[in-house]
Amino acid sequence: MSDFAARLIDWHHAHGRHDLPWQASRDAYRVWLSEIMLQQTQVETVIPYYRRFLLRFPDLASLAAAPVEEVMPLWSGLGYYARARNLHKCAREVMADHGGRFPSTATEIARLPGIGRSTAAAISAFSNGERVAILDGNVKRVLCRVFGVEGYPGEKAIENRLWALAEGLLPEAGIGTYIQAQMDLGATLCTRSKPACGRCPLATLCRAYRDGRTAELPSARPRKAVPKRSTRFAVILDGDAVLLERRPPSGIWGGLLALPEIPEDADAAEWAARRYGLRISGWQALAGLKHVFTHFTLELRPELLRADMAAPHCSEDGPVWQALECLADAALPAPIRRILEALPPGAQPG
Ligand code: ADE
Repeated sequence: MSDFAARLIDWHHAHGRHDLPWQASRDAYRVWLSEIMLQQTQVETVIPYYRRFLLRFPDLASLAAAPVEEVMPLWSGLGYYARARNLHKCAREVMADHGGRFPSTATEIARLPGIGRSTAAAISAFSNGERVAILDGNVKRVLCRVFGVEGYPGEKAIENRLWALAEGLLPEAGIGTYIQAQMDLGATLCTRSKPACGRCPLATLCRAYRDGRTAELPSARPRKAVPKRSTRFAVILDGDAVLLERRPPSGIWGGLLALPEIPEDADAAEWAARRYGLRISGWQALAGLKHVFTHFTLELRPELLRADMAAPHCSEDGPVWQALECLADAALPAPIRRILEALPPGAQPG
């Protein structure tokens, strides 16, 4: 047996809990119910729900026979209600396709609705003693630390390595105790923050402990690179008024007033003259700035254009000439306001 498994099994004999209600039975229905309830939910929270559920639905046939509306109240307060709907669906499927007998291998159990590979393995290990590996969040954390596995465990390639590692560590005997020990170690000692390495039976095998890297392993989810966009904005000034346009209702800054965008390859002065019927007498690049949106970063590259003899007009959807003194009242996006407030001396009204 691997040293890893042997230590966990010994630890569980000495320190594990052996009196939880679902540990009294190897009945697949009870094991299955407890494993579904224990997903993302603490043992202490589950206990009363588990007892109440069994009083109302003592076996798979009674659960399958009930309408789902009678199942949901027994789940009320436990959260993740898809679990209850899938549980009921599973019960009906087992009645219809398996003659009412819960399937007896992890592979078959994993084909039932809402049961993943790790939960299927736990159910089969606890109820049939099948020698199969589990890999839930707690076990991933333990393996990454003990064996110094680098990389985000949610990533498929890392997860596949962890499955292979988990399968190689299985003990020849005592699978149920071993699996329960792995779950309990991850939940009680090898916690995400402040693990209790001083009490851990695996500490002297553990790479992360040896190297002082328990805070770094498992590796965090990599931050997605935020896409960058870059846009030219026209600051067209006529005296003390700046030309603004209302943004379309959808998209960034929907419905707000903003500086017009200059097409990337246009000559700014020619473009402004044509688009707004203006004569442009001066051009100057202004300092750019960055603005971070949720899904991208926008680089704003403003260009100052001086117009003379503008014929200011205001219409519903045309440009708006906004007096620079009155910017405070205008509905402007923050980075546009920053550009206008940073206009060089002489561009601003004195
Ligand atoms: N989480 C999922 N299954 C569990 C179990 N059998 N014991 C403790 N926590 C669990």
